[in-house]
Amino acid sequence: MVTGGTGYIGSHTVVELQQSGYEVVIVDNLSNSRADVVDHIEQITGIRPAFEKVDCLDSEGLDAVFRKYPNVKGVIHFAASKAVGESVQKPLMYYRNNLGSLINLLELMPKHGVEGIIFSSSCTVYGQPDVLPVTEAAPIKKAESPYGNTKQVNEEIIQDFVASGAPINAILLRYFNPIGAHPTALIGELPNGVPQNLVPYVTQTAAGIRQQLSVFGNDYDTPDGSCIRDYIYVVDLAKAHVIAMERIFQHKQEKQVEVFNVGTGHGVSVLELVNAFERATGVKLNYRIVGRRAGDIEKIWANPERANKVLGWHADTPLEDILASAWKWQCTLS
Ligand code: NAD
Ligand code: WQD
Repeated sequence: MVTGGTGYIGSHTVVELQQSGYEVVIVDNLSNSRADVVDHIEQITGIRPAFEKVDCLDSEGLDAVFRKYPNVKGVIHFAASKAVGESVQKPLMYYRNNLGSLINLLELMPKHGVEGIIFSSSCTVYGQPDVLPVTEAAPIKKAESPYGNTKQVNEEIIQDFVASGAPINAILLRYFNPIGAHPTALIGELPNGVPQNLVPYVTQTAAGIRQQLSVFGNDYDTPDGSCIRDYIYVVDLAKAHVIAMERIFQHKQEKQVEVFNVGTGHGVSVLELVNAFERATGVKLNYRIVGRRAGDIEKIWANPERANKVLGWHADTPLEDILASAWKWQCTLS
């Protein structure tokens, strides 16, 4: 079961699951995605995933899906609201959606013999790390937003549920900054309204949909003054989920709950990304430097050694190839 499976990361993960031989049922309420993503997944893999339009907050509806698909062995839980700024304006919606959905799933899994869950966490739990690159042992810092807090609390909910003796296993994947689109350009990121994230804003500016990219600050303590992040190709990220799910099914876990940073291990600044986009696409980007964005941390990139060694997984797609995939996807939308 892939909740949020018609969403950006979920849809790419469904493709990789199917291409690894798994049967998939998508549960999504289409609050931030479209049903035709199911068609595009089928176009890529030749296999139409089962799709149930259900809200994970609807416990009875979710129970009915588990009853309809009694062979579900694992859950990959992407379904959540994820806009940091919106979470500041609507905290209760974020706490209800992101915590309530997970609690419903955890309550139903043992009842239906589901072995394990892969949870979509985020490097946002680290805040601004004291030491870089950041490892899974780094301290969790007070969240900068209700959204970030929902990720921290969700991790604690899973840890506490397993500690209470629940018969399930879990892997928490802390994503860094997922970017790019599937090489077929049949699926990709579909931001609603004005993009908050950098790469969709870059591609929409290049496509002429946005007038100009604002670079939020060049007075940070970084080589070129702009913020540094660990941008990971969404397909590489999707592959990590298949490996993590297999790890649970094959009972290879060292602990009932394992945590992995899912990043490239390389920090890239905003201006470096803009230059890489121009090199990758040949499109000159119209941008200007403006003031810092409230809530932004200065720099973060992963130490992915645990995922590399324990999962045998690496994110090695070159940044320019990833940005070329984002541009190819944008060109199909315009
Ligand atoms: P997305 O919005 O594209 O996908 C989320 C999907 O979940 C959407 O299809 C939406 O319709 C669905 N959904 C939301 N609430 C639901 C509910 N109550 N019931 C059923 N479906 C519901 O987001 P994404 O970028 O694919 O992110 C997926 C997950 O990864 C989220 O949990 C997000 O917090 C996490 N994450 C994302 C990023 C990122 O930069 N994109 C980084 C770290 C973590
Ligand atoms: C990246 C960099 C901006 C837009 C967010 C969430 C995080 C996770 C991933 C869910 C920053 C700069 C951006 C623009 C810019 N989401 N930028 N101009 O903030 O690292 O992480 O998305 O889990 O929780 O916080 O990603 O893409 O918004 O920004 O200069 O128009 O690009 O200042 O330095 P971020 P982002």
